[in-house]
Formats: sequence, C-alpha cells, structure tokens
Amino acid sequence: MFGTASSLKIGPYVVDPAVVLAPMAGITNVAFRTLCREFGSATSLYVCEMVTARAIVERDSKTMEMMTFGADESPRSLQLYSVDPKNVTDAVTIIAGEGLADHLDMNFGCPVPKVTRKGGGAALPYKRRLFAEIVRAAVRAAGDMPVTVKFRVGIDDEHLTYLDAGRIAEAEGAVAVALHARTAAQRYSGEADWSRISRLKEAVTSIPVLGNGDIFSAEDALRMMRETGCDGVVVGRGCLGRPWLFRELHAALTEQPVPAGPSLGEVAAILHRHAVLLADHLGEEKGLRDLRKHMAWYLRGFPIGSDLRKSFAMVSGLPELEDLLGQLDHDAPYPAEAEGPRGRQGSPGRVVLPEGWLDDPEDAAVPEGAELMHSGG
Ligand SMILES: Cc1cc2nc3c(=O)[nH]c(=O)nc-3n(C[C@H](O)[C@H](O)[C@H](O)COP(=O)(O)O)c2cc1C
Repeated sequence: MFGTASSLKIGPYVVDPAVVLAPMAGITNVAFRTLCREFGSATSLYVCEMVTARAIVERDSKTMEMMTFGADESPRSLQLYSVDPKNVTDAVTIIAGEGLADHLDMNFGCPVPKVTRKGGGAALPYKRRLFAEIVRAAVRAAGDMPVTVKFRVGIDDEHLTYLDAGRIAEAEGAVAVALHARTAAQRYSGEADWSRISRLKEAVTSIPVLGNGDIFSAEDALRMMRETGCDGVVVGRGCLGRPWLFRELHAALTEQPVPAGPSLGEVAAILHRHAVLLADHLGEEKGLRDLRKHMAWYLRGFPIGSDLRKSFAMVSGLPELEDLLGQLDHDAPYPAEAEGPRGRQGSPGRVVLPEGWLDDPEDAAVPEGAELMHSGG
C-alpha cells in the first residue's frame, strides 16, 4: 500500500488520510476509538488514553484494562506518560515484549498543575537532557515499534521548548512529532498559534510533523495543512460528541465533498451505538455512566427541552437511553450552533513548577513523585 497524496508514514504504518484522533484521557477508550474509526478511515490513527509507564511496570489493573484495543484495530496506538528513563525502559520492554501495542506516543503536553508542579507533562521538555534520555529509552526498548512524541510550544512565552523538543526527538529516533500549538500557560484557552507549527516544520526536516490545536471542522484541517505545511493533523476536542467529524475529515482530505452534519435522528443512532460499545467495554452500568459526560456534546444546539436534556445527563441503562432517544425530534436538522469550538477551554494561568526548575535546562535529575498519578489523569 502506497497511500494517497494526503497520507503519512508512522514507521511502517501508512496513515491515510493523515488524520489522528488525539489521545484524550477519559475519552479515547476502545469504544470511542471504534466509533470514530467507523466514520473515518480504517487507516487513520486513533490514539488510546494515556497510561503511565510506572502503572504498566506495576501492572496496575485499571491501567491494563485501559490498554484494550478492538479486534481489528491496527495499528494499536498507545500513549505513554513518564518522567523517568528507567520506568520507560521497563514499561516499553513489557509493551514490546508482550505485544501489547503497535505504536507508542510519548506525552509531554499535559498542562495540569498537579503534573507540572512535579516537573511532568509540559514542564519536562525544558530539561533538554532528561527529555532526550526519556525519548531515547522509549525508542531503544521499542525495537521495531515506532515511537512518536507529542508536546506543546513551551511552558509560557518566555520559555519556549518546542523547537529543541522537535530536534531532540528527531535525533533520538522518534518517527514523527506532534505539536499542540499552545503554551502550557495557555492551557486550552485563547487560540493555538499555528505559525509555530510552520516553524517546527522548518526545524524538523527528516520526520513528519503533525499539527494540533483548534481543528473544529474539516475546513480547519485543510487550512492548517495549507498554512503550516504540516504532514498531518491531530484532532481532539472537535470530535467530542461528534465522531462523524472523521467522516468529514476523510472526505476533505481525499478531495471529496464534505457531507452535511447528521439530523437529530442520526445523532440518536450514533449515541446509541456509542452506548452499546461502552457497555461492551465497561459493562452496562459503568458504560452508561461514562456516556453521561458525552451527552451535552452530542445534543449541543438541537432543540431539546431542559428536562429531557437533564434526563440524558443522568441516564443509567440502555432501555432508559432508548426511551429518551425515542422522545427526540428525529427530523431536526444539524444546527449551526453545533459548529465551532467545543470541549474544555479554561483560562490561562501561571504554570506551577518545582522549585528551581528553570535554573538548569541540562540537569537530567529525575523529578520525584511525578509519576504517581493515575493513568489517564
Ligand atoms: C478531555 C481531554 C483530555 C486530554 N488528555 C490528553 C492526554 O491524555 N494526552 C495528551 O497528550 N493530550 C491530551 N489532551 C490534549 C489533546 O490531545 C489535544 O492536544 C488538545 O485538546 C488540543 O487539540 P484540540 O484543539 O484539537 O482539542 C486532552 C484534551 C482533552 C480535551
């Protein structure tokens, strides 16, 4: 398989079209990935929720359950979080040795204070040597399994790290890099600065550069590729409650007409499919509880009374969900209000770092206590 003009290679895998479902904790489990894949291309890339290296080494049962993939899911794409080269070596040795995944993405983009305070996530690429050691450890232990690296622009506007991170990842054997074009200080607020993706593309020349941030429509994806020259797009919040965005992305990137958004009747069928997939994965009770967080996203902009909306947000079983779906106006067309930004936005804030973190970028000491959080956090 050679792929089309809009394809990209991640190690041995042709990603065609070059669309990636962004790893999202609490969202991109096997059920949601399956749904997105049913709308998109079977050869695009759909990344699992993040797991911590340490939790794999300890064989934490919740973490092992999160590493569930569909029977025909290929490549099985897993995101790993770590601050410690030793944990990375041990975890990736387990993953590769036991054939638990086909692709590894390393997470250096998390802006959550409880993570950056310990030197993890988006704080880590500031420590150039430690960052290099972590990527090197992953690549070495991964053997034939391709490793990619995902990061932000930097800690804040005064501490940009993305160009170094890109060059280091490239030198250490990563097969692609992905940039969420925000600083950690921005969190999810404001706008992603796509010009940074262009800069990264100039700095990293031998492996693909993927762009990420604020793709909420197929047109946004085309525009990012056009404006930045990136080799592929990574889509997160835009597909929350909108897995059919992958159908639209697929069409746009293969130069076909982009289909109109679904009617409320079609959304009802999709929501039901999501519920069944979640029930298969987690059991009906847990699965339906997990679905609640998706309800407002699915129903956004449609004419639905507030009582019915509330009932959706508290649904606890499949028969109840079916009853509620039956009460919707199935002919209601896809509303304009459902377009545009969705998902978390938050507000910018100072990035909390460990004491003295910015003193020496070459200090490779492993920060303490930064990997004790739960997988997917
Ligand atoms: C609910 C949620 C969970 C996320 N979890 C992760 C994660 O575990 N790992 C990661 O690298 N990024 C995570 N992200 C960031 C996304 O992968 C992506 O970089 C970010 O949302 C920007 O892309 P977007 O504008 O398309 O949403 C998460 C984002 C959201 C909204």
